Amino acid sequence: MEDIEWGKLPFGYLKTDFNVRAYFREGEWSKLEISDSEYMPVHIAATGLHYGQQAFEGLKAYMGKDGKIRLFRWEDNAKRMQDSANGLLMAVPPCELFKEAVFSVVRLNRSFVPPYGTGASLYIRPLLFGSGKRVGVKPADEYMFLVFVTPVGPYFKEGFNPVSIQIARDSDRAAPLGTGRYKVGGNYAASLMAGERAHREGFASALFLDAREKKYIDEAGPANFFGIKGNTYVTPASESILPSITNKSLMQLAESIGMKVERRKVPVEELAEFDEVGACGTAAVISPIRRIVDSVTGQEYKYCKDGKAGEVSSKLYRLLLGIQYGDEPDPFGWVTVVD
Ligand code: PLP
Ligand code: COI
Repeated sequence: MEDIEWGKLPFGYLKTDFNVRAYFREGEWSKLEISDSEYMPVHIAATGLHYGQQAFEGLKAYMGKDGKIRLFRWEDNAKRMQDSANGLLMAVPPCELFKEAVFSVVRLNRSFVPPYGTGASLYIRPLLFGSGKRVGVKPADEYMFLVFVTPVGPYFKEGFNPVSIQIARDSDRAAPLGTGRYKVGGNYAASLMAGERAHREGFASALFLDAREKKYIDEAGPANFFGIKGNTYVTPASESILPSITNKSLMQLAESIGMKVERRKVPVEELAEFDEVGACGTAAVISPIRRIVDSVTGQEYKYCKDGKAGEVSSKLYRLLLGIQYGDEPDPFGWVTVVD
């Protein structure tokens, strides 16, 4: 791994040594298999390919100063993958299988966990899809569960430097009673138009509004949204956003430092009232936002007057990363050491 420039890694795919796989056939899950191939044979009529019957997860392994590898809240990812599986009528991977897969794939690729202090981490990508053949629109009777890993740097190239984002008004990523609360590929396909347009026009990401009324904030591309108003942490409550494990953790951390937390509808106009705003997620960690522009009205909201992240966002960022890398005590029991 000598040739990897850990400190310069983008959020991208880098080949590692192994991935792990399990198959659901005839009503049961197989034993976990280890593979050194980046490819897999898939039936041409698999429902995952045709009808989007698939879900994925994203979590990270962090190398500590003490040389120990830590996983952050992996049970929450296991549970969310089960929710996604239920939502799309897929076979549900048992928590034990998820755990064995995630821990094994990290151990097998130990040398790809970026060293402490480089700011990088090992991204873990569990994937579940209908592998059984169907032509009519129906759930498959066979499923494949696989987990690969790849070392990554910051999701937004700006890292912890504030980004600009664009309010998307001419497309929605998820319908009010749709699949937005599940981590399924279709939501990301639906977000591509708005995301690519935002990139073309110089923004790091799109900010989606509620699809029904276009009045409330939903989420920021592949991350939840939060705003800080005085001593209060505000984040949208919505049926069509992903329940972010990072956001849930930030809410707990905010409370632990004496802040008030409000999870409720956030009207777009309220953007004018926040002292700080940011996007949060496993990949993005906390990405402070310095500017939000409405793609239709042209209205602009500005933050980070001195060009730097706000005080509260910076504090929450340090607290969260401190726990993830094992620099700070873990009072909530969020971290598991991979032995
Ligand atoms: N929202 C979307 C659409 C995402 O893809 C992600 C990433 O997983 C998040 C929010 C953040 O969720 P988490 O903090 O669990 O990674
Ligand atoms: C994550 O934060 O894990 C995400 O899901 C982002 C991703 C879709 C690249």
